[in-house]
Amino acid sequence: MIEVRNITHRFQNTGRAALPVLDDVSMTVEPGTFVSLLGPSGCGKTTLLRIIDGLVQPTSGQIFVDGVEIRKPGLDRAMVFQEFNLLPWRTALNNIEFALELHGVSGVERRDRAHEALQRVGLEKFATYYPHQLSGGMKQRIGLARALSTNPRYLLMDEPFGALDPLVREIMQIDLLKLLDAEKRTIVFVTHSVDEAVFLSDRVIMFRANPGSILKTLDIDLPPRRFENDEEIKASSAFVGYRNMIWHLLKEQLRRPA
Ligand SMILES: Nc1ncnc2c1ncn2[C@@H]1O[C@H](COP(=O)(O)OP(=O)(O)OP(=O)(O)O)[C@@H](O)[C@H]1O
Ligand SMILES: [Mg+2]
Repeated sequence: MIEVRNITHRFQNTGRAALPVLDDVSMTVEPGTFVSLLGPSGCGKTTLLRIIDGLVQPTSGQIFVDGVEIRKPGLDRAMVFQEFNLLPWRTALNNIEFALELHGVSGVERRDRAHEALQRVGLEKFATYYPHQLSGGMKQRIGLARALSTNPRYLLMDEPFGALDPLVREIMQIDLLKLLDAEKRTIVFVTHSVDEAVFLSDRVIMFRANPGSILKTLDIDLPPRRFENDEEIKASSAFVGYRNMIWHLLKEQLRRPA
């Protein structure tokens, strides 16, 4: 379980006033659930994910993972980045090995685990390809394989499908749900897409900006194994109801005076 308790964050840039980014954000992510963070650009979603990963220390507040307060990255959590963040001079396989290297996994085991991670995302044939030889969807799969290679309980995904074309994006969503059905993990997923958030999530947490704070939390009560009948689900009145509710709240925010 991830517990975010009263997180407030300000970035202190030299020569400028401190920038308040997050204001008193609290939320709980229960084990095995998929939680999306949805909100306008600049509302602090990436910053919050980095705080949960332990890469950024919040100005105040605490993060507990399975009851233990965290202060730095750990093997229990892995980030999938907004950009693919692959090293261009390393092959697909070596990019995955890099994450394991950072965690001190030794040579032979590293190679085995990297191959296994490639298999899980269906790219074992592309082990020796370099990033520039791969499509956007493939690069994102490598990013996912890299995160999975350390076998984290928690995946922190920052707009992982934002750079993909709409069709590939839908396929990636379905593949992600299939993967999560086979191996239970807990996901915090940042997205700008309302449909993506509703389709993937058990819970959507909507943020407002300046500074970022929680606007509304919405539990999504759609059937499990949504990848089996995605088109039917997306056409259902329940799905459309959630989508309209979220759009309505987003538009209301835009109309508010700054
Ligand atoms: N390292 C940093 N130093 C100073 N300011 C930063 C830093 N990282 C982010 N910020 C500022 O914090 C605010 C929130 O940034 P963040 O990247 O968390 O937003 P976001 O919600 O992820 O936006 P987007 O949807 O565009 O990715 C922005 O105003 C940004 O300029
Ligand atoms: Mg971001």
